Amino acid sequence: MKYLLFLLVIISLNAQTKYPSSESCNECHENIYREHTSSMHHKSTLFKDEVHAKVKEATSKNSYKCALCHMPAAKDLRSIMSGEKQPDPNDYRQTDGVSCFYCHQISKIYDSKAHKINFSNYKGDNKPMVFGNLKKPYESNEHESMDNEIYKNSEVCMGCHSHKQNAKGFEVCNTKNQYDKTSDCIGCHMTRTAGTVEKENKGMRKDYASHNFLGVHSQKMIKKAVKLELSYKNEVLELTINNKMGHSIITHPMRLKFVKTTITRDKQIIWSNFKESPIEDTEASFIIVFKDNEGNTSMPSDAVDYKLNRNLKASQTKVVKYKVPKLQKGDEIKSAWISYIVNPQIAKKLDIKSIDIIKPYMGDEESLYIY
Ligand code: HEC
Ligand code: HEC
Ligand code: HEC
Ligand code: HEC
Ligand code: HEC
Repeated sequence: MKYLLFLLVIISLNAQTKYPSSESCNECHENIYREHTSSMHHKSTLFKDEVHAKVKEATSKNSYKCALCHMPAAKDLRSIMSGEKQPDPNDYRQTDGVSCFYCHQISKIYDSKAHKINFSNYKGDNKPMVFGNLKKPYESNEHESMDNEIYKNSEVCMGCHSHKQNAKGFEVCNTKNQYDKTSDCIGCHMTRTAGTVEKENKGMRKDYASHNFLGVHSQKMIKKAVKLELSYKNEVLELTINNKMGHSIITHPMRLKFVKTTITRDKQIIWSNFKESPIEDTEASFIIVFKDNEGNTSMPSDAVDYKLNRNLKASQTKVVKYKVPKLQKGDEIKSAWISYIVNPQIAKKLDIKSIDIIKPYMGDEESLYIY
């Protein structure tokens, strides 16, 4: 009897300690693990994202409500959110951020006004169930696996990415499209990549869904954000901006994205769409600035309305017309898409240092010569 009890205790202890770290998946899914650890999902916590850490510090010193989406696998999620417990840099369930296992446990997404909610399948099983979208997944000793429609129609992304209201009920970010629907997130952000899903490749697959989750931190992706076109007639320059993404140009209030247009004659710039700051051009700059009750510029947490809201919806196109000097043979018009992860003014205020975060990223470029 004693022996049996002892066994039972061991079994239940085992079951409880069995929340798999992301590193544990590396044993078999090395390609996916390598990509994931370089992604913002792995770096989503205040331990690994300087921007997130500094905004958290500036807006909510004592609590960490952000953990709901930025550190969702934490064991003591509720107490960390309320501030009862402080984040612990030695706990892998916290430093793993949006971890492999957390994402692959999401079974359903619930709708709610303030933000959508992930419903987790996690029960502490010794051989847990992971969801995916593989045809005929090969059996593994590590886990069971099962098809789930939301890993195909991108609904699995929406528990964190759909929208978010602040405590005042004002929506501060949004990645849904103009129809308030989920677009094909997976199609654009998890492209098929040559290589194995799993080391031994018993499933005999030639490619896998990439897990880099590239976005606004990636030069390659910024090239795909918008398409620019130029035309000139009778002292009017027409710039067409076509948003190619499945969501708005600005999904998050930290960003600044804009077009810089110049006209050059004999190596001299004779005209440009702004002098000092890109936001002087109200038509070709994209930015969201919030205001509080008193109409002053505010952080997302205190916002009740927009002070500036310059955005384009999914797949939307806009034409900007500029009255320019009469052009002559040899003149060159150049337009370039430029993207900042953090608006330089905000970066200065928050004292953000990483070069990769404060430098401009160049997107689509278009030029026109006058013959
Ligand atoms: C409902 C889920 C959710 C909550 C709660 C949440 N975030 Fe986020 N956060 C996101 C998502 C999704 C992104 C990526 C959005 C994007 O890039 O468009 C993000 C991105 C960010 C970024 C940009 C990071 C970068 O790399 O530039 C900052 C800063 C940030 N969040 C701060 C916070 C802070 C501070 C809190 C808590 C006060 C918080 N977030 C709460 C979902 C959430
Ligand atoms: C001992 C090896 C092993 C380990 C460790 C392992 N897996 Fe797997 N996993 C597999 C095999 C084998 C497959 C099937 C691959 C195939 O069919 O090509 C698989 C498939 C999957 C799938 C696809 C399921 C589907 O139905 O589409 C997911 C998701 C997955 N694993 C997640 C994880 C996560 C998350 C971890 C870490 C917590 C992990 N795996 C650890 C062996 C492993
Ligand atoms: C558990 C919450 C959660 C889920 C589920 C989730 N994300 Fe994220 N995602 C985040 C957070 C938080 C960030 C921002 C991290 C940061 O910058 O600090 C983010 C960032 C991103 C980025 C921006 C990367 C960059 O460098 O700009 C992309 C793209 C992205 N997610 C796509 C997806 C897609 C596609 C899915 C669905 C397959 C998904 N996410 C599911 C929380 C989540
Ligand atoms: C048609 C392709 C396409 C679709 C569909 C798409 N995206 Fe994107 N997304 C992009 C590109 C390209 C970028 C990078 C350029 C940029 O951020 O300006 C991006 C950027 C992002 C970012 C970072 C944006 C920022 O400024 O912080 C997040 C987060 C993101 N996508 C999440 C999603 C989610 C979630 C979905 C599904 C609802 C989705 N994407 C659907 C193409 C797409
Ligand atoms: C942000 C959520 C998210 C995170 C984090 C994440 N995955 Fe996935 N994973 C997905 C989605 C969605 C799919 C289905 C993609 C598809 O079918 O195109 C997928 C597919 C897979 C597959 C099947 C491969 C294939 O080609 O369809 C495996 C295996 C897998 N993931 C393992 C992992 C491992 C291991 C990690 C961590 C190293 C991880 N995932 C992190 C969302 C995630």
